[in-house]
Amino acid sequence: MIDGKKVLFSGMQATGTLTIGNYLGALQNWLKLSDEYECFYSVVDLHSITVRQDPAELRKRARALLTLYIAAGLDPKKNCIYYQSHVSGHAELSWILNCFTYMGELNRMTQFKDKAAKHADNINAGLFTYPVLMAADILLYQSDVVPVGIDQMQHLEITRDIAQRFNAIYGDVFTIPEPYIGKVGAKIMSLQDPEKKMSKSDENPNASIYLMDDPDTIMRKFKRAVTDSEGAVRYREEQPGIHNLIDIYCACSNKKPEEVEKEFDGKGYGDFKTAVGESVVSVLKPVQEEFARLEKDKAYIDGIIKENAEKANYFAQKTLRKVQKKVGFPEKIR
Ligand code: TYM
Repeated sequence: MIDGKKVLFSGMQATGTLTIGNYLGALQNWLKLSDEYECFYSVVDLHSITVRQDPAELRKRARALLTLYIAAGLDPKKNCIYYQSHVSGHAELSWILNCFTYMGELNRMTQFKDKAAKHADNINAGLFTYPVLMAADILLYQSDVVPVGIDQMQHLEITRDIAQRFNAIYGDVFTIPEPYIGKVGAKIMSLQDPEKKMSKSDENPNASIYLMDDPDTIMRKFKRAVTDSEGAVRYREEQPGIHNLIDIYCACSNKKPEEVEKEFDGKGYGDFKTAVGESVVSVLKPVQEEFARLEKDKAYIDGIIKENAEKANYFAQKTLRKVQKKVGFPEKIR
């Protein structure tokens, strides 16, 4: 609790170009929850270097992502929007939690297996302990709730296990966080292969709608989206392409799948795809315009970065001091 409010933590990696999967699965829920909670939204740059990065590119993307959080509507005076690397407590707590996490647990993480397969030439220890750093992010602020897409559920479960294990030894040190998964948009699939998650790292640009895509590109990508030969707009598992487009449409228009089925009853996929594309354009356009405006205001963004790093550090240190004491590190002489 901070000032009588429950705490929310979430983060995104500044790798690749954000997709509407990130927006609908995570950011949109962050916006919904931001009044109710004391929120920490991090640009998780420590996580990003588990895969080789070009330094200049990473710095640029990290700043763009931080700016995008604000452009999407998160008020940086109310929400703590900051770079993970500006708060050393993340790495410090992560080390301690590493000593309370089993190799067997980490070995079971599907994201590790996927990434190890994809980056076979660089299966580094950071990639393996990635979920522990994530646990540190969350536990450092005594977070109650963590809004994420479905793909992060396993990491949330291990975070809870680590916290419970630590608490069982040392008493009630950490708040046990709950995941928050939105009703719609929690798993947006690729437009080219609806059995696969839409991902920043997909090599086929037609598979994903990027947050910065212009309206023509968005409409074209939806036109090319893979569907089926059924010819009916139905919300059924057997039609994964259409199912995914309905999910996207519902998340962007606040409609329910049944309403969408009715709206397009007897109509072809062409009309439906146009409507989905238009709903996405109308959600992304204001964000893109605000981003373009904010990006130019260097002094304002710099001010936010400084102020919020201080705020995050303050709360991080509170938890860290408590943990250090519990595990038996000698007190600092001041
Ligand atoms: P990242 O950067 O891959 O994704 C950011 C958020 O977007 C969600 N997401 C999706 N949701 C729906 N459909 C999709 N196709 C889709 N793709 C991505 C993700 O679930 C996530 O919520 N490890 C995390 C970042 C992280 C974090 C944290 C998150 C680091 N520490 C602590 C929460 C709490 C990641 O790589 O997310």
